[in-house]
Amino acid sequence: MSPTPKPGILDVAPYVPGRWRADGIERPLKLSANENPFGCSEGARAAYLAAAGDIHLYPDANTSALRDAIAHKFGLEPQRLVFGAGSDEIFAMAAQAYLDRGDNAVQPQYGFAAWAIAVRAAGAAMRAAPERDFVIDVDALLAAVDERTRMVFVANPANPTGTCAPFTEIARLHAGLPDNVLLVLDGAYAECAQGVQGFADGLIWSRDKSNVLVTRTFSKAYGLASLRVGWGYAPAPVADALNRIRLPFSVPRAGEAAALAALADEDFVMRSVRHFEAGRERLTAALRRMGLPTLPSATNFVTARFEDAAGVEAALARRGVLVRALRGYGMPDWLRVSIGAEAELERFIAELEGVLAAQRV
Ligand SMILES: Cc1ncc(COP(=O)(O)O)c(C=O)c1O
Repeated sequence: MSPTPKPGILDVAPYVPGRWRADGIERPLKLSANENPFGCSEGARAAYLAAAGDIHLYPDANTSALRDAIAHKFGLEPQRLVFGAGSDEIFAMAAQAYLDRGDNAVQPQYGFAAWAIAVRAAGAAMRAAPERDFVIDVDALLAAVDERTRMVFVANPANPTGTCAPFTEIARLHAGLPDNVLLVLDGAYAECAQGVQGFADGLIWSRDKSNVLVTRTFSKAYGLASLRVGWGYAPAPVADALNRIRLPFSVPRAGEAAALAALADEDFVMRSVRHFEAGRERLTAALRRMGLPTLPSATNFVTARFEDAAGVEAALARRGVLVRALRGYGMPDWLRVSIGAEAELERFIAELEGVLAAQRV
């Protein structure tokens, strides 16, 4: 007899990241993971490097300095914040805490892949509610909720579609949910959507709700993806439940130091967000000019439809340009392209024109 994982574990499909390598090309142009093309704030980099002398020390298990800084910046109660190794870890903690065997969670059709991993690892099932034109459909989400539903996940704006629902729809979703269902509002791309009409991040709105967990990350607009710093804002009893099962040192010391400095550098975030806005316009216009349908993006990427998405993705990779294939998301005809720096976007557009021209002959 060998050790056997719990029932359901071997049914979990492992996360498949976007391509990060191109054969024979040392530094490919990576537009497959929605990373920040400007890197991160200089202050954050300096804080990270300054922490290098202390790598033999455990981090602060309470992430106290960052906790206070986030609470102050966003006007939140520090004790209601939860930290994790990226927001991914917060989804996992929430699923562990609230889902049991036989329970289910509900997500939109094109939900972010890490949610289902967290849900299935907790022994529960993930149900997917159809979207309408690649935008979350609140009525479908509510229709998918049954008496065994304990969690509903939505990201606004969403990945991999990039689309954004008006906040009134998020509020309507919450209003339709039973009180014992935890609504996880994933704001990984919230900064990118700041200027989008109808968008709100829901943090302050959630304050008096007993069943909403808002998650945020330093991985995208703040450019700290490799340091794994995510946080959540939850009602006190939810934060308490998550903090009981949280392993103590998942946010690294240098990650906390860098995130603190990143939070203080509003110029960097604003510059990034403005670039994402302009970049998605530029990229959307270029793709449409090539006859490729695109989804309206409120994020730092644009998702477009191709006749031969797999062929285009592979041909771009041979030219050293990596974009995200979306087969695993049930969108086999679509590719997701991160907003790179200006020159990177121009290079992507030129290489794509080359690939499409070569396919036509
Ligand atoms: C919608 C969404 N949520 C959460 C995450 C996870 O971010 P992290 O774990 O780096 O905080 C991502 C990352 O791509 C995402 O797209």
